[in-house]
Amino acid sequence: MITVTRIGKHLGAEISGVDLSQPLDDHTFAQIANAFFDNEVAFFRNQNITAAQQIAFTRRFGTLEAHVRKEARLGGHDEIFVLSNKLDADGRAIGAQDAGRYWHSDLSYKREPSMLSALYAVEVPVKNGVALGNTYFASSTAAFAALPEAMRQRLQKIRNVHSYREYRLKNYAAQQDEERRRIRTVQEHAPTPEQLASVPDTEMDVVREHPVTKRQGLFINDGHTAYLTGMSRAESDTELAKLYAHITQPEFIYGHSWRVGDLLMWDNIAVQHKATFDYDPLPRLMYRTTVRGPAVT
Ligand SMILES: [Fe+2]
Repeated sequence: MITVTRIGKHLGAEISGVDLSQPLDDHTFAQIANAFFDNEVAFFRNQNITAAQQIAFTRRFGTLEAHVRKEARLGGHDEIFVLSNKLDADGRAIGAQDAGRYWHSDLSYKREPSMLSALYAVEVPVKNGVALGNTYFASSTAAFAALPEAMRQRLQKIRNVHSYREYRLKNYAAQQDEERRRIRTVQEHAPTPEQLASVPDTEMDVVREHPVTKRQGLFINDGHTAYLTGMSRAESDTELAKLYAHITQPEFIYGHSWRVGDLLMWDNIAVQHKATFDYDPLPRLMYRTTVRGPAVT
């Protein structure tokens, strides 16, 4: 029997009583999907699944993406995006280590941004009995609902531009700075011109209605939003900083402390998330699958 236990004030739930290595009947899957969308972040503990089983489970939610960073895909499974600080025999990074430095929503720069992502914890760094590398999630629907009515109405009329290109250049500059300061051990791949050109900038409404829950949320994020339209960059930067500070207040956040065998899913339309990099050089290995969502307007 499935049990759903809410953890955070506005988001985050543990779903127990499910073995994801087994095929799920339609009724059980519907219960999981309902609990997931209602809670925006949901996780299952103590799972023991293969890459193929993770793919099969997440594919029930929709079409899976193959990430633009080909070098971080798992061999034999293009749908698995590897997040890791581990190196292969030639000393090269086996996955992306720098993903999630900024608050962001996965693939939000695409015309059809991600609906949800699922992350399976294969290796979790632990120091003195405490898991490192927590992931934090903020509910942009709860944050939007908490804004004054006049502010909500004003934001309904504003659009924003998400830019993969600006994100990768900003992220790479930050990473090089960390390498200069020797707080990072993995030398990552620079974004290639092909990667930067492969994802054009996308303009979309700041306020987005969730296709399943019909909740309205703020579809802006520090990682991928380049600017708000109809104002100067300076005005846009100021306005965005205020909105980000609002969204990431503690009451709208659920922080996940990972255990090996966790399969955690988050709703990329309703929440944004952020990684922490407090574990290097302890090894961390996570597998991500990402489900494509509907087109933005
Ligand atoms: Fe992410």
